[in-house]
Amino acid sequence: MFSDKDLIKNIYLYSKLNRVPFHTPMHLGRTDYPNDLSELSGLDNLQYPSSTLKNAEEYLSEIFSAKKSFLLTNGASIGLQAAILALKFYYSQSNLELKPLLVARNVHKSVVSGIILAGFDVEWLELNYDNNLDLYTGLKLSVAELKDFLSSREDDYAGLVLTNPSYDGFYSDLNSLKSLTLPLIIDEAHGTHYYFSGDLPQGALKTVGDIVIHSLHKTLGALTQSAVAHISMHSKIPASCYEAALRLLQTTSPSYLILKSILESVQYYAQEAKELYLRVKAFQEKISTNCLIANNDDYFRIVIQNATAEELDVFLEKKNIFIEKKSSKSITIFLSPYHNEKDIDLLNAALTEFHATNLRVASPVLDFFSFPDQTLNPQLAYFHPFRELPYQESLGEICAELFAPCPPGFPLLVPGQKINSSIIEKLGICDDFLRYKRGIIRVVE
Ligand SMILES: Cc1ncc(COP(=O)(O)O)c(C=O)c1O
Repeated sequence: MFSDKDLIKNIYLYSKLNRVPFHTPMHLGRTDYPNDLSELSGLDNLQYPSSTLKNAEEYLSEIFSAKKSFLLTNGASIGLQAAILALKFYYSQSNLELKPLLVARNVHKSVVSGIILAGFDVEWLELNYDNNLDLYTGLKLSVAELKDFLSSREDDYAGLVLTNPSYDGFYSDLNSLKSLTLPLIIDEAHGTHYYFSGDLPQGALKTVGDIVIHSLHKTLGALTQSAVAHISMHSKIPASCYEAALRLLQTTSPSYLILKSILESVQYYAQEAKELYLRVKAFQEKISTNCLIANNDDYFRIVIQNATAEELDVFLEKKNIFIEKKSSKSITIFLSPYHNEKDIDLLNAALTEFHATNLRVASPVLDFFSFPDQTLNPQLAYFHPFRELPYQESLGEICAELFAPCPPGFPLLVPGQKINSSIIEKLGICDDFLRYKRGIIRVVE
């Protein structure tokens, strides 16, 4: 219909057309969502992009310095699942033996879903725990130690999966992993905005990483579920492997609202970043004069240290202030250029008022915590016959389910891990587990 390859323009033209639609979506664009279109001619096909969407993906590759970029309308979650399947596809095409994946323990649950789907064995990299914040800030090993560890063992693994930066804005400089031949998948869900400024850390597409995943609703201003996956310039994994994996998983009805918002938000940041980032930096500085904030690497993520963080969260909610995440000793708030001075003043006033109160009941926190050992393949454990029992009775059993509460924002329960006393104690103080799972855990029969 429209020969132009500009997605935003074609969506606009469709919304202005006096159309007589006899196709999905069934609201026909006659509700509040005239831009919610389907894959009409001129809007391309996300499974096989050849015009408008191909053009959009090429624009993203250029902006992020990637070899190839993929629009995602099912969040970074689908991007990470596809990354793990792409790796499996890569090894099966090369007729290579499927070795275990080496995975940071703070990966998002979608990485573990991908591992379950692909059937990889897994070895975990332990995390650094900051006791003052009750937060995991990254790996226990430094990057140099990780490189040393891998120097004689690279061949033992199929790939390395890291979350960098962490949910709370802690970043590790991975540059020294450049010499690795091991494929590296980087969950950079919380780092898309790094690419538009010189005063934030360097994005993985400019340093190391074969497949890199961005969540645009977490970092830029795009709609919820918007994300982009990239194959880096130096990737060992062919883009065709990722493409194949994505076609297995992604919806056949992509939301054009989401696709449009991805392009618009990237264009906006590419054009206006300097001014937007100055504003956010000023907000961060204003908040930091009013409370104790952690020394992370991203002024868009503020971790406020507070011994009574749970109470602080409740206090803020009563003032209509809603935060991103809490632990027992810190709260994490996300800053955005869409905030205004009034928001920051309200937050600062509430923090001041809270500090002046005498309500001081520290939340329970464990002195020691150790993640359970992986004793069975996650796929085998997940698809094994199971039984359910109260978590207090699960010591020594093999977990058969995936459960990722927030906090900590990554899986506490992973299929195939042998339940230890530490995890039982942790589940006992985990609000999400007690609320959503009602204290019941699924174990291998
Ligand atoms: C580190 C990390 N990776 C991936 C995701 C998944 O992102 P999305 O919500 O876009 O699917 C999240 C979501 O919380 C996350 O925190």
